[in-house]
Amino acid sequence: MKEVSTIVILFGGSGDLAHRKLYPALYSLYQQGLIKNHFAVIGTARRPWSHEYFQNQVVKAVKEANGNVEEKEVKEFASHFYYQSHDVIDVEHYIALKELASELDKKYQAQGNRIFYMAMAPHFFETIASHIKDQQLLGSGFNRLVIEKPFGHDLATAEKLNQAISASFPEDTVYRIDHYLGKEMVQNIMPFRFSNSLIEKIWNKNSINNIQVTLAESLGVGTRGGYYDGAGALRDMVQNHIFQIITLLAMGRPSDLTSEAIHQKKQELLASLVIPTPAEIKKSFVRGQYLAGSNHPDYRHEDQVDENSMTETFVAGKVQFAAGPVAQIPIYFRTGKDMKEKLSRIDIVLNKEQPLYGEAKEDVISIIIDPVAAISMMINGKKITGSALRLENINYEFSSKEMDEVPDGYVRLLRDVFLADRTNFTHWQELKQYWRFVDAVEETWQTENESGVEMDFYHPGEMGPKKADDIFESSDQHWIFN
Ligand SMILES: NC(=O)c1ccc[n+]([C@@H]2O[C@H](COP(=O)([O-])OP(=O)(O)OC[C@H]3O[C@@H](n4cnc5c(N)ncnc54)[C@H](OP(=O)(O)O)[C@@H]3O)[C@@H](O)[C@H]2O)c1
Repeated sequence: MKEVSTIVILFGGSGDLAHRKLYPALYSLYQQGLIKNHFAVIGTARRPWSHEYFQNQVVKAVKEANGNVEEKEVKEFASHFYYQSHDVIDVEHYIALKELASELDKKYQAQGNRIFYMAMAPHFFETIASHIKDQQLLGSGFNRLVIEKPFGHDLATAEKLNQAISASFPEDTVYRIDHYLGKEMVQNIMPFRFSNSLIEKIWNKNSINNIQVTLAESLGVGTRGGYYDGAGALRDMVQNHIFQIITLLAMGRPSDLTSEAIHQKKQELLASLVIPTPAEIKKSFVRGQYLAGSNHPDYRHEDQVDENSMTETFVAGKVQFAAGPVAQIPIYFRTGKDMKEKLSRIDIVLNKEQPLYGEAKEDVISIIIDPVAAISMMINGKKITGSALRLENINYEFSSKEMDEVPDGYVRLLRDVFLADRTNFTHWQELKQYWRFVDAVEETWQTENESGVEMDFYHPGEMGPKKADDIFESSDQHWIFN
């Protein structure tokens, strides 16, 4: 594999994401030969680490993620890592950072190429972007920016942030990470839809009755109450992961598999996103909070959570598009904390034809993303009985043993950054539409809060409040997973 020469500047080098995901992912790319001799990583954060201490942390992170690794190789890999103690709000440090980057560029012959990775709390993103520009940190080769979620808190703040980063990074050099786009079965949605004539033929508004996306977590907010209470399920999960999945399910067939063609199709679809009215939001959206469980209090009494909080830990709702293969078809979603089990799945419910056999149920194709990667089909078949012909719902499940060995999402996404493939990253035009939708829902909820409307509650282990079962357009629709 051809090596990519570059200096990576990682803001948040001592953080959890860097330790658990980024260093192991970079090591994997090192083993693949994508980075080898002509790269260096500068980790920056406030704590006063030495280069040596940082390199030991990198070795530790790789070992924790991989179990058995070859000591010599990991140490060689870690020798490319440098640490710069740096408060991102302090201008002086950018000057030192620039000098270190130039020095390492020469040492490793990185050809002036730079990848900037913002792995920090999002309120710092704008500050870092302005300093990169003002202190002229860009290299003379390629410059790419990788930015973690959340990208803004609403459309207005996202626009402001986008303006700040676009001063240094044109859109085609920005890689907005949504780690769901690195997941095996999310990456499999397009091949599943567009390489199987059986599937492609039924993927339309005549055959599909409704689509359901469920991303459930089994734990409460734990120690993240402070962050979560300012966000909520809609901003934390729907604005990014759920919308990315829905876009892949509803977009039309791209003309080819280039990043440009795929993003063009996504944007065509999103231009037809139906922004719900307050009346529709009242009818088709449910927000809820979890009640106390055996090992935690109710949400409002969690650590760092406002005791009058109106932040939702669960949301269910409906998305529709005016154009595209599934135009007007309801796409239901739900996501929340402290639910029955941790899982991510998509259920595509087909229309029930007038069956010869009265007991036939609707066919369902399910794409299971987590905890296992699988595709299943629930179809009707003959029950093995005596002489009487009876039908039963048969579940055919396809999962591959190799799924155990699929690389972590961050390995794929970082690899794409090095190879300048933006297919699996969020384009600004897409993000804007997601925010427009989320803002409309948030505004309606805000008005409800002001008029004293209380939210719904659910017990830990349930699939959200009971009311979430009533968001369907028609009485024969229901949640497939319960
Ligand atoms: N952790 C995950 O699994 C995960 C998953 C998906 C997305 N993300 C996203 O990734 C980003 C980072 O998350 P994280 O979990 O890694 O957070 P974290 O563990 O809190 O790390 C934050 C980093 O920022 C540094 N920092 C804080 N204030 C600073 C300042 N003023 N100047 C310089 N450095 C500063 C911290 O180091 P010092 O204290 O030494 O300064 C630390 O390295 C967030 O946007 C998050 O939403 C995280």
